[in-house]
Amino acid sequence: MQIHFTASPPAEIRLRARIANQGASLAGIDQALVDGAAAARFTGRVGQVFEGFTSEGGTLRRIALAGAGEPTAGERRLNLERAGAGLTAKYLVSGETAMVLDLGGAGLSADDAAAVLLGLRLRGWRHDKYRTKLAADKRPSLATIHVTGAPDGTEAAWEREAALAKGVEFTRVLVAEPANVIYPASFVAACEEAFAGTGVEITVLGEAEMEALGMGALIGVGKGSERESKLLTIRWNGGAANDKPTVFVGKGVTFDTGGISLKPPPGMEDMKWDMGGAGAVAGAMLALAGRKAKANVIGVMGLVENMPDGKAQRPGDIVTTMSGQTVEVLNTDAEGRLVLCDALHWAQEQYDAARIVDLATLTGAMIIALGNEHGGMFANDDTLADQLTAAGKATGDKLWRMPLGPNYDKLIDSPIADIKNVGPREAGSITAAQFLQRFIKNGTPWAHLDIAGMVWANKPGHSWDKGATGYGVRLLDQFVRDVVEQ
Ligand code: BES
Ligand code: MN
Ligand code: ZN
Repeated sequence: MQIHFTASPPAEIRLRARIANQGASLAGIDQALVDGAAAARFTGRVGQVFEGFTSEGGTLRRIALAGAGEPTAGERRLNLERAGAGLTAKYLVSGETAMVLDLGGAGLSADDAAAVLLGLRLRGWRHDKYRTKLAADKRPSLATIHVTGAPDGTEAAWEREAALAKGVEFTRVLVAEPANVIYPASFVAACEEAFAGTGVEITVLGEAEMEALGMGALIGVGKGSERESKLLTIRWNGGAANDKPTVFVGKGVTFDTGGISLKPPPGMEDMKWDMGGAGAVAGAMLALAGRKAKANVIGVMGLVENMPDGKAQRPGDIVTTMSGQTVEVLNTDAEGRLVLCDALHWAQEQYDAARIVDLATLTGAMIIALGNEHGGMFANDDTLADQLTAAGKATGDKLWRMPLGPNYDKLIDSPIADIKNVGPREAGSITAAQFLQRFIKNGTPWAHLDIAGMVWANKPGHSWDKGATGYGVRLLDQFVRDVVEQ
């Protein structure tokens, strides 16, 4: 979707849209339309879209009013995004190819206006490349938005949000692509292409290098796959030279069959998005580099395919992690923690991190606990937990904190090795987090985000259609804005 700023939008564009706060006067709008909106019970409630028709000098006009709720509400920015997203949802496949969006008269700041545009743009992302037979009237038509009446500074604010939108969209593509297209090497190639010219530093370790480093846990997961495992690092140095980096680590299981502990067939196709943590890290890095964030941030992605095979690891196998700790692999389907433990340890050896945040579609139990409303957060540091919670609230990528503790930790003691990779059925998400914590060095603020319920949506939401949501990108970007760039 192209977004243009203009003082005089082309007169021939039929579709005109405005943002309306709840209870706000609709000054400047044709009285018949105002009456029509009232008759249709349009009050400006968030998410409402009213459409009326009028004739201007003999030309048909299609006028849309998008509700943004109470202007004073705490969720003001999110409400404005929803107003923008509501317009896209209504007109994306309407046949209209262009829209004039009048942002004047709604009492918006530049940041508010950029929020409307962000919602509008994000809601327009779709992944139609494999639909060769999509009927013409089901294809997106809306391609150009002419923004008029925007407050001063909106263009600059939008430049920043547009970089964020690009990051979210990149994540969505990685998540939506099937596993015959996105596997470790092609995930790396997609990043190399997306990041070209952004000024990031990219490094890639292959299996021989990881083997030499002693990453027995990560290597073990990829044993059954024909695809070579990779450890991808993307580094953005936008901050002061002596600022310790913030490190994001992502689970990138490009397909999770469960391995020898094979998953049942129904729903297994969902496991193409088991790289959603790594996808979010890649998208966040793209957003940060795209908007030239004043922060030093490193994204580390453990990319592996978990397959059953004659060469695959077996239940009961014992692997030695890079940290030296040994793991009894009781269930080859609890593979995410095996990938992350080596990626986390390597990241701590390699960098003097100010803080580490990992993101992973780690456990089905997380979805049982929190559904599709909140990602689960586990943290060894209250400040970091509060900062992430706040970033989640501000962006809609919501988090809910979960507990850690020594009694949970005991549940993963192994009788034959240092750790076992699964505990009992109870508290499955917590024992997974305890597993990861055993690889975090004392004193490093760390948070683990179990986002299993968040990366894929079965119905349209705030600013996404059904499918890949891009969850995590906005969260990490906001966290960097509020905590690292200050
Ligand atoms: N990738 C899955 C978790 C998952 C399940 C994510 C459903 C999204 C939707 C993970 O690798 C897994 O298989 N976890 C197991 C752990 C169990 C074997 C201890 C699970 O949750 O069942
Ligand atoms: Mn699994
Ligand atoms: Zn998995």
